Amino acid sequence: MQDQETMRLTSTPADLARGAAILRADGLIAFPTETVYGLGGNACSGTAVAGIYAAKGRPSFNPLIVHVADSKIAQRYVIWSDVAEQLARAFWPGPLTIVLPLRPDHGISSLVTAGLDTLAIRVPAHPAAQGLLRAFNGPLAAPSANLSGRISPTTAAHVIAGLEGRIAAILDDGPCAVGLESSIVGLAGTPTLLRPGGLSSDRIEAELGSKLLHLNSDTTLTAPLTAPGQLISHYAPTATVRLNANQTQGDEVLLGFGAMDCDLNLSAMGDLTQAAANLFDCLHRLDATGRPIAVALIPNKGLGIAINDRLRRAAAPRD
Ligand code: TXA
Ligand code: MG
Repeated sequence: MQDQETMRLTSTPADLARGAAILRADGLIAFPTETVYGLGGNACSGTAVAGIYAAKGRPSFNPLIVHVADSKIAQRYVIWSDVAEQLARAFWPGPLTIVLPLRPDHGISSLVTAGLDTLAIRVPAHPAAQGLLRAFNGPLAAPSANLSGRISPTTAAHVIAGLEGRIAAILDDGPCAVGLESSIVGLAGTPTLLRPGGLSSDRIEAELGSKLLHLNSDTTLTAPLTAPGQLISHYAPTATVRLNANQTQGDEVLLGFGAMDCDLNLSAMGDLTQAAANLFDCLHRLDATGRPIAVALIPNKGLGIAINDRLRRAAAPRD
């Protein structure tokens, strides 16, 4: 892939305007959201979206999330429903993506959906993301701004380590507050949790007043797999990862949780929100040691469910 100078931008109005100009010319910008940094390109441009896949080295069957500034704009692209309205009112802007049928006149590049007739869409809360979306005045396809299969970025430094020279610009506005990708809920049929993420499924279910189908645990699902991005080895550091460890073996470095002796701690006070915010940065740091990584047991409730999902993928065997 062609080498290019990756411009550094901030969240000033002048830089947001520069960013919008890059996007209008089909260039790519990494930008912060409250979940992780995204790699944004014009969702209506096949050239821009192809560029995203190329920059990430991402398999083309893996569809992308589209980001818009508010739920009214979202309704230009997807067929809205009462449940969509309810979840959007409760959780947008924020770390929730919903999947809905595409409108016939959507205008989104078919590369975004990888041929599906549904679209994953979300309204990010981060002021810089909002600023860029407003300045660009259009929908942005934006997967996490990392090389495909690698750890998601929660700081500009993480993005630069993977994508320097491969994208036009990075908008640096500090670390991401949530630290886990958005939760994805499929609303094209029975409401289904397609990916646990930065909004706990308990909160979504409390809002709906009913349980979601859970893609990974409910065996009643007969529909074809609708979250093809759930490749099992994902979020992978270079090092091997061993889970549910309470002490190190051999040369391992230990990623702890709660009061314990360890190399880095996700949250010494045992707080899952703090652990989520720290997860990817801790994995990036421990991976840089070049040593195998052992991770303490994380309670499997609330945001712990999404943390454990990412850790299982980080630990999965790969070739
Ligand atoms: O927090 C996030 O969601 C971040 C930030 C940048 O917004 N974005 C993100 O995007 O994680 P990405 O592209 O890395 O993850 C896309 C996920 C994949 O698991 C993909 O399969 C799923 O969304 N997805 C996309 N379109 C879909 C669709 N039409 N139906 C079901 N799943 C879909
Ligand atoms: Mg990703």
